[in-house]
Amino acid sequence: MVEKNLSFPIKKICCIGAGYVGGPTMSVIADQCPDLEVKVVDINPKRISEWNSKNLKLLPVFEPGLDQIIKRVRDKNLFFTTEVDDAIKNADMIFISVNTPIKSSGLGAGEASDLKWVEASARRIASHAQGHTIVVEKSTLPVRTAEVIQKILCSSNKNKDKFGNKTFSVLSNPEFLAEGTAINDLEKPDRVLIGGDNPDSIQKLKEIYLNWVPSDKILTSNLWSSELSKLTSNAFLAQRVSSINSVSAICEATGGNVKEVAEAIGLDHRVGKLFLSPGPGFGGSCFKKDILNLVYLCKQFNLIEVANYWQQVIILNDWQKKRIYTNIVKSLFGNLSDKKITILGFAFKSNTNDTRDSPAIQLSIDLLNEDANLIFNDPKVTKEQIIEVLKNEKSNFKKDDKNLNKKLFFEQDIYKSIIDSDAIILITDWEEYTNLNWQKISNLMRKPSWVFDTRAILDSKKVRKAGINLWQVGEGNFKR
Ligand code: UDX
Ligand code: UDX
Repeated sequence: MVEKNLSFPIKKICCIGAGYVGGPTMSVIADQCPDLEVKVVDINPKRISEWNSKNLKLLPVFEPGLDQIIKRVRDKNLFFTTEVDDAIKNADMIFISVNTPIKSSGLGAGEASDLKWVEASARRIASHAQGHTIVVEKSTLPVRTAEVIQKILCSSNKNKDKFGNKTFSVLSNPEFLAEGTAINDLEKPDRVLIGGDNPDSIQKLKEIYLNWVPSDKILTSNLWSSELSKLTSNAFLAQRVSSINSVSAICEATGGNVKEVAEAIGLDHRVGKLFLSPGPGFGGSCFKKDILNLVYLCKQFNLIEVANYWQQVIILNDWQKKRIYTNIVKSLFGNLSDKKITILGFAFKSNTNDTRDSPAIQLSIDLLNEDANLIFNDPKVTKEQIIEVLKNEKSNFKKDDKNLNKKLFFEQDIYKSIIDSDAIILITDWEEYTNLNWQKISNLMRKPSWVFDTRAILDSKKVRKAGINLWQVGEGNFKR
């Protein structure tokens, strides 16, 4: 029988899932709470060995500032291990931070979250936990998932240990970190939200955050409000991106400039200036999935108008990607066959190596189906990652595999990636792409040369002065 301290404070915590959320979140908790022992467990041994890598450049997640934290706390009070059951047994508090992708088949396919990993985690906790354990939902989950977890944890008598004191309480503590700024978001959060119905458990989790978060930033609510707050926060953010992208299309049609319009809108303090950058459509593992979940929830409660309202945010996002692709093909005389196109950026946004749902994926598929040759450049995404991602999209390709391999290239040096290109498409807002020597680039490209700036971050005067045709999202004076 493992000795557990059931009174304050929590001594040992465990996090199931060493991903983009679990890894950085637990690193910051360990850094801010030196008296806590933090174990991050994962069923994927490769991922764990990467987290334990001596060379900090090989950590599986790139986040500015993360490597320094890992250097300070790893193997002191932060441990990455595949010993899942042992970590569960010893933990006073367990965070569930496993992936929750959209179901690919069965009831709710394409809309509802696949909860198989959450359920598997709950069952494993039910089998191996001892004494009283607080279970915290960190993954973004459909509303009322806590109920499912609670039912699994409390379902069977055999869950009780020989002293009959195996008990659980479930909390929701959604993650609001954005990739690329995760460490800052965790160290200086706008708010921490804890949902639950057991005041003692809520207080215990609150005590952990109080090590570095001011108490007025820690909100408590019931479980369902907490789960719903996460889904709707992401839906609101995604809606802003679709709103500004819709304005970008209006600007192009009317002669406005989306950057000027966004500035004017954002200076109204009721609106605020953040999250008004036009782009190739939002990506990442959360926005689309969370809105789909919200839409599914609305349909279940027969709130069809509400479901359609949120669905439109995704429809607009898909349309933005398609209209950019159409524009590229038309500009290149309707023919991409054997043309060379350089794609600057494959990550879904800057400062991350994450490519999940990146707008670069759909665009690459569309361009490859036009028979273009693609040369990729990204400061943090590897060639292997890009190839793996595109191979997973096999079913979307009209070309056969062999052909595909001959069409994909990767070049780490930006200027080399541009040699003899007909067009450059800037997809990810990496800072290094904003300081390029356009005259040098113009000399390297095939004429007539094109730049498609899907983020509106390039200095248009410099690009045009170098003799390159430029299309910038949301720039109204564009003439083909
Ligand atoms: C998180 C959230 O959990 C998800 O709900 C949210 O929408 C996006 O962010 P993330 O950390 O980005 O997910 O996922 P990922 O990087 O895929 O990491 C999940 C990890 O959980 C993987 O390493 C996987 O191996 C691990 N896992 C999965 C387990 O350890 N056990 C399981 O049973 C399932
Ligand atoms: C998001 C939420 O911001 C975060 O709070 C939540 O916990 C997880 O989901 P993330 O997906 O990591 O974080 O990145 P985010 O910065 O929100 O960007 C999402 C997408 O929207 C990216 O593709 C980004 O490029 C795009 N975006 C964002 C825009 O196109 N324009 C903007 O103004 C802002």
